[in-house]
Amino acid sequence: MARDTLFNTTAPVEKFEFNEQVAEVFDDMLDRSVPFYKQVIEMTAQILGRSLVEGDTVYDLGCSTGTTLLHLARILENKNLEFIGLDNSKAMLDKALRKAQMFSMGDRIVFSEQDIIRTDFSRAGGVILNYTLQFISPGMRLEFLKNVYRGLRHGGVLILSEKVICEDTVFNDRFQESYYQYKKRRGYSELEIAQKREALENVLVPLSSRENKDMLLRVGFSRVETFFRWFNFVSLVASR
Ligand SMILES: C[S@@+](CC[C@H](N)C(=O)[O-])C[C@H]1O[C@@H](n2cnc3c(N)ncnc32)[C@H](O)[C@@H]1O
Repeated sequence: MARDTLFNTTAPVEKFEFNEQVAEVFDDMLDRSVPFYKQVIEMTAQILGRSLVEGDTVYDLGCSTGTTLLHLARILENKNLEFIGLDNSKAMLDKALRKAQMFSMGDRIVFSEQDIIRTDFSRAGGVILNYTLQFISPGMRLEFLKNVYRGLRHGGVLILSEKVICEDTVFNDRFQESYYQYKKRRGYSELEIAQKREALENVLVPLSSRENKDMLLRVGFSRVETFFRWFNFVSLVASR
């Protein structure tokens, strides 16, 4: 796995994009920047494993390099499921395809270049939206989630993971500090942390956990629950 050193530079920071350079180091970037990334994927697999039925389709919206779907296709292989990963970054999808071929999963997962805001699907058993909603313009999130809700069958499940802010500013600062300490322990320098933070300004726009939950309830999900939280990272499950 190529090491992420993208922000180890004092050069003026450009707006963060999911381009080729990012795709090349993305797996290392997530592994070292998203706390409990692998555990959230395992929990996602467990939750979906209990709700999916034979022949269901599972969508991963903003699938990046396909790590989650590759794991699910392995763990849930006896349910005859269809796996579809959508992303609008060609560089990410190229990497996903290469990984799928490397693990002999090329025929088990479909990867497609699409804008998830404009995607239409129906009767899905599961939708995964891990660390992607935060990159969609806040004003478009409710309409987008309505579309996701409509795309699920009755009893279908959405997994939503996000970086969040706290409503209390003191806790927000303390949680943020815990996150920076985490990144330092994972080998990022202060320069790298500061440069990436600037690149993500107004690109990654986090809401609070409550705001995310409220949106899910407003679009119609009947049940919403938190299944994971680490300081300012939250994973929710919602059932139609
Ligand atoms: C932080 S990454 C998601 C990580 C991935 N879900 C995982 O858990 O490994 C966000 C992804 O969303 C994609 N993305 C952002 N906006 C999108 C859009 N409008 N349509 C499709 N993909 C989008 C980006 O290209 C990127 O690959």
